[in-house]
Amino acid sequence: MVGSGGREHALAQVLGRSAEVVVTPGNPGIPESVSEPPEEIEADLFVIGPEAPLVDGLADRLRHRGRLVFGPGTDGARLEGSKAWMKEVLVEAGVPTARYGAFTDRAAARAFLDRLDGLFVVKTDGLAAGKGVLVTGDREEADAAVAAYLSGDAFGDAGRRVVIEQGLTGPELSVLAVCDGTTAVPLAPAQDFKRLGDGDSGPNTGGMGAYSPVPVATERLVDDLMEEAVLPTLAALQSRGIDYRGVLYCGLMLTPGGPRVLEYNVRFGDPETQVVLPRMVDDLADLLAAAAAGTLGDPPAFDDDAAVTVVCATEGYPASPCTGDAIDGAEAASDSEHVTVFYSGVDRSGDHLVTAGGRVLAVTGKGATLAEARDRAYAGVEKISWPGMHHRVDIAAHPTGASD
Ligand code: AMP
Ligand code: GLY
Repeated sequence: MVGSGGREHALAQVLGRSAEVVVTPGNPGIPESVSEPPEEIEADLFVIGPEAPLVDGLADRLRHRGRLVFGPGTDGARLEGSKAWMKEVLVEAGVPTARYGAFTDRAAARAFLDRLDGLFVVKTDGLAAGKGVLVTGDREEADAAVAAYLSGDAFGDAGRRVVIEQGLTGPELSVLAVCDGTTAVPLAPAQDFKRLGDGDSGPNTGGMGAYSPVPVATERLVDDLMEEAVLPTLAALQSRGIDYRGVLYCGLMLTPGGPRVLEYNVRFGDPETQVVLPRMVDDLADLLAAAAAGTLGDPPAFDDDAAVTVVCATEGYPASPCTGDAIDGAEAASDSEHVTVFYSGVDRSGDHLVTAGGRVLAVTGKGATLAEARDRAYAGVEKISWPGMHHRVDIAAHPTGASD
């Protein structure tokens, strides 16, 4: 397993039910961590967690050495590495998505903003750790963001090309599809909370919490999504000669006009993984190995339990996270069989784990219902502290589509 965050911690734990797992580089909160680079590790299967090494070609390099790899090559990873290219593929595949334009020129971008109404969305073309997206009703603010992105001031080279979209409204949904190049199977849907503050206020983040299952995401909705978005996208990739073996993470908005794909990511979501995988019944190692080998079978089964995860972040996240504070209570929080603490931005200092990034821990509770899972996750969070620790209090408080 390649990576160092809570997503990789969860993947390692669930893969570890049936396989011997090492995580590189991991982090001091992940017991299976090793320091050897992936190229120097002998393994039957390599699973690459984050987008950056995928965009950088790690899967290609490992495949070139004859390894079995779960994760797309640079060609497929471009779906996440360039939002402009992703939109081109979506349009070619006939997948419903927001109206857009891609620009390197400010005057042309401004002219496009004039043709939109209501909500304006400005995105960096390149990778920006989930933070390069501005959604605003204020045209002037959108225009100022375009200028800051294009100049390189806001996000360096990632922003020198911008994607501008018509803003959409509705609940969001994350559906992760496991792909083997020609076919795909869905994992249980999850909902992620992207904004920093309660009530979806504040800036976009990498994700402040998640839950699964999502009442609105019926089997029918997921089947339709596979037919209308994931499989046509895979076919469009194939027609470009791209053999996509890995996760296609479909970020959706359920608009009044029907589901729209907001984005694809080329990896498992963080923190969605921390609620989806703990519910998995079938063997994850078998599933990912079959995808990597091009021999996927039936969709995997998930249990009826619910899972809720709450992210504990540092003061200043996402703009400028404070780090180096000793984390108290993380072990006490996970002393119940229903609660697991997944470690992300942590480091070791003497005997202590200390904060080392914006998103530090994801505390997952499981239960028979979302309400029970939520109570357990928050009971875990209450035991954890460090100076300036921040978390949302409304994760899964009003699950989309729930009858009450
Ligand atoms: P992305 O990285 O493209 O998924 O964007 C991050 C977040 O920005 C999404 O999860 C949405 O909350 C929001 N967003 C992106 N595109 C749009 C859009 N066209 N309309 C409204 N919100 C959007
Ligand atoms: N939670 C959003 C993401 O992984 O991109």
